[in-house]
Amino acid sequence: MSLSPTSSGAADRTEAPPARSLAVTLGRLSLPNPLMVASGTFGYGKEMTDFVPVGQLGAVVPKTITPLPRRGNHPWRTVETSGGLLNSIGLDNDGVEAFLDKQLPWLAACGAPVVVSIAGGTVEEFVGLAARLEGVPGIAALELNISCPNVSHGVDLASDPEMCRRVVAGVREATNLPVLAKLSPNVTSIVAIARAAADGGADAVTLVNTCLGVVVDWRRRRTMLGNGMGGLSGPAIKPIALRCVYQVRQAVDVPIVGVGGIASLDDVMEFLVTGASAVQIGTASFTDPTVAGRLLEQLPSALAEAGVSAVRDLVGTLKVPGAAAAAAPPPR
Ligand SMILES: Cc1cc2nc3c(=O)[nH]c(=O)nc-3n(C[C@H](O)[C@H](O)[C@H](O)COP(=O)(O)O)c2cc1C
Repeated sequence: MSLSPTSSGAADRTEAPPARSLAVTLGRLSLPNPLMVASGTFGYGKEMTDFVPVGQLGAVVPKTITPLPRRGNHPWRTVETSGGLLNSIGLDNDGVEAFLDKQLPWLAACGAPVVVSIAGGTVEEFVGLAARLEGVPGIAALELNISCPNVSHGVDLASDPEMCRRVVAGVREATNLPVLAKLSPNVTSIVAIARAAADGGADAVTLVNTCLGVVVDWRRRRTMLGNGMGGLSGPAIKPIALRCVYQVRQAVDVPIVGVGGIASLDDVMEFLVTGASAVQIGTASFTDPTVAGRLLEQLPSALAEAGVSAVRDLVGTLKVPGAAAAAAPPPR
């Protein structure tokens, strides 16, 4: 804590709580705090400010945009399931030009850094989108959605390390903006894909998109979702997302944004200690649209409880009891 020259001394020093630094950096991207809202789960319009102090969030990630408008998948597109939500929206969006025209003006003025989520069907389409957004005011970074399970070939670029490296490197070359690569948990080795993203020049990896699932109505002999399969999100996937953060943190030197089932301050803290420098709140905003604001308000008290004065001092401080025991000399 720094005292102003007009401070009256000892009394002030004992009464004022120590300042907690919430700021985090993800490669070249600096955020005022680690609490972001996840793509596809948060609106962009005045209605959001009724629920959340949007301008105070670490960042807003709007719904993924594609080069051209997409109608999305056949309904039903969402269904609740045990501990989560299965969705098959299919990247329904109005395309990049409509985004720049209608949505970006509000976002750019909302006060929070705006991380624009983009998706293409090919490396070239990703690169084209990045080039189109280059130099547009009001954009803090790009998040590459190479992990949408609800469009055909949506996870191809996040399933093959070389393809992942190529798309990230291509975008990296086309833009000066920081680049986040959003990865899929539906792969054999998340470490191999994260390493490829880092090799391609990603400033950070976002872990994770939804987990593939199916919900069935056996009486009618049909899947609940119009598209058959969908992406599972919410509390059910938190351990999977944490596992991805855990594995990548240990193996790859790249900042991590954790996302998957975060709904409480304990969830946020679990992701931070496991190795995420920032987190995104997704499905939880559907059941409680005020959640992101509340967690932001509560974060300093959890830092105090953890005995740290800065979020960055907490990141990756997790211990694995078995690992410590294995490293200790054997008992005599
Ligand atoms: C209805 C819905 C739509 C989503 N749309 C997108 C999207 O457009 N782009 C994207 O990268 N992720 C999208 N996601 C995935 C979320 O951003 C997030 O990665 C995932 O839901 C896991 O976090 P959660 O459990 O906190 O929701 C969507 C999720 C849901 C539930």
